[in-house]
Amino acid sequence: MNKSKNICTENIRIMTHDDLDLVRCWRNHESVRSYMYTNQIINKEKHLIWFEKTSGSQFNHLLIFEYNQIPLGFVNFSNVRRSAVAEWGFYTSPDAPRGAGRRLSRAALRYAFEQLKLHKVSGQALANNEASIKFHLNAGFKQEGILRDQHFNGSCYQDVLCFGLLAGEWQPDCGEI
Ligand SMILES: CC(C)(COP(=O)(O)OP(=O)(O)OC[C@H]1O[C@@H](n2cnc3c(N)ncnc32)[C@H](O)[C@@H]1OP(=O)(O)O)[C@@H](O)C(=O)NCCC(=O)NCCS
Repeated sequence: MNKSKNICTENIRIMTHDDLDLVRCWRNHESVRSYMYTNQIINKEKHLIWFEKTSGSQFNHLLIFEYNQIPLGFVNFSNVRRSAVAEWGFYTSPDAPRGAGRRLSRAALRYAFEQLKLHKVSGQALANNEASIKFHLNAGFKQEGILRDQHFNGSCYQDVLCFGLLAGEWQPDCGEI
């Protein structure tokens, strides 16, 4: 029996043109879109323009998280420079099994601190996004502040919570399932 068949694998890789339809489908899903700063449906053309512009920049890393070779999430690191403070954004597939978020955070932070050699990853979450707030805290982030009434969602203002994780605080196995 081939034992390697039983090994579960987490992988982070660069997003390519082949991922465009899948990522747009995730991004437009109500469960993802409603927690983004821009929450309109994104058409194919706009999505392609965003991808070409962003993926062509050395300061952005657009990534796909895979578990057992199945794409389950998207991660973006922006403002990436060596020893820099970069921002991240992310979402899991609306169909992702329980635990996908934790696995995504573990793989993405390994990429950030080991490959990109970042000094710090910072993230933001709308105050009503409980999943993202828990996700950041579970991954070892500290809450660093609240931007009051920072975002207008079309009907009301919302607070934005700021999170940060320093390279020296990062624990590679944080989020172990
Ligand atoms: C934010 C996001 C990535 C977080 O992922 P997630 O839902 O926490 O992912 P998980 O499946 O790992 O965790 C879900 C819950 O299951 C729990 N869980 C995970 N694996 C588990 C397991 N094996 N057994 C039991 N419970 C488990 C987690 O602890 C969490 O529970 P909690 O809510 O009590 O903390 C995801 O919700 C998402 O994509 N949301 C929409 C987009 C978004 O908001 N993006 C971020 C913008 S700032």
